[in-house]
Amino acid sequence: MGQLDGKIAVITGGGSGIGLAIAERFASEGAQLVLVGRRKPVLDEAAEKIGHGAYGVSVDVSDDERVRAFFDTLDRVDILCTCAGKAVFGAVDETPPSAIRELFDGRFFGQLSACYNAIPKMPEGGVILLCSGIADAAHVKNYSGGSALCGAVNAMGKNLAVELGPRGIRVNILSPGFIGGTTIDFNLERDEMIEFVKRSIDSTPLGHPGEPRHMADAALFLATCEFVSGQVVEVDGGWTAT
Ligand SMILES: NC(=O)c1ccc[n+]([C@@H]2O[C@H](COP(=O)([O-])OP(=O)(O)OC[C@H]3O[C@@H](n4cnc5c(N)ncnc54)[C@H](OP(=O)(O)O)[C@@H]3O)[C@@H](O)[C@H]2O)c1
Repeated sequence: MGQLDGKIAVITGGGSGIGLAIAERFASEGAQLVLVGRRKPVLDEAAEKIGHGAYGVSVDVSDDERVRAFFDTLDRVDILCTCAGKAVFGAVDETPPSAIRELFDGRFFGQLSACYNAIPKMPEGGVILLCSGIADAAHVKNYSGGSALCGAVNAMGKNLAVELGPRGIRVNILSPGFIGGTTIDFNLERDEMIEFVKRSIDSTPLGHPGEPRHMADAALFLATCEFVSGQVVEVDGGWTAT
C-alpha cells in the first residue's frame, strides 16, 4: 500500500530536477503522475522513467490559455505541485525590468494560474505545494527580482492556506536552498557561477548543496501530513538559520 494510492498528481516542471524527483517519489507511493513542462521529449523520457502510468503534457505555464486547456483535460486533481521556473540573477541597474517581469510570468503567474485552474477540480483532502526559494529569508547576491518572487509566492501560499482550509485543501510552500543536480539556468557566466556555488556552500551550515531527493522528502511529508498547512518549508541545509 502506497501513501498516495489512487491520487492524481500534477507536477509542473516535472521533467527535470526537483519536480522530477518529487514525481518519482509520489509515483513510488502509488500516485498517478501528470508532468508539465515545455519540452515534450524531456517529459516523455521522464514519464517513461517514472512508469506507473505517468505521462507528460507540453504547456508553457506562463500562457494562461494553455494552462486552462491543459486542466480542462483532467477530471480531478488531488495534488498540485508547481516547480516550473528559472532564476534571474543580475545587479539591479544591469537587469532590465522586462527580465524580472518574464520571471514572474512563468514562476509566479504560472503557479497562480495552475492554482486557479486546479482548485475547482480538487476534492476535500486536496494538496497544493508551491515552490519558492530561500531568497526572501536570506540575502542572495544580485537577486533582488528573484527574492521578490520568492516572497510573493510565500505570501500567496500562506493566504491560500487560510482561504482553502475550510474546503479541506492544504497549501504549503517548498523553499529550496542551494540544490545541485538540476538543470536550472542560473543565467550566470562561468566565473560568476563558480563564485555563486562557493558563496552558497559557505552560507550552508551543512557545507554542501542539497539534492533533488531532499526536496522530494519534504514534498512527501507535506503531501501526507494532514495537519500541516500554510507553512514555508525551507530545505536549505540550515542557510536561513544563519
Ligand atoms: N535548484 C535550486 O537551487 C533552486 C533554488 C531555489 C529555487 N529553485 C526553484 O525550484 C524550481 C525547480 O528548479 P530546478 O532546480 O529543479 O530546475 P530545473 O531542473 O531546470 O527544473 C525546472 C523545470 O521547469 C520547467 N519550466 C521552466 N519554465 C517553464 C514554463 N514557463 N512552463 C513550463 N515549464 C517550465 C523546465 O522545463 P522546460 O524548460 O522543458 O519547460 C524544467 O523542467 C524552480 O522554480 C527554481 O527556480 C531551485
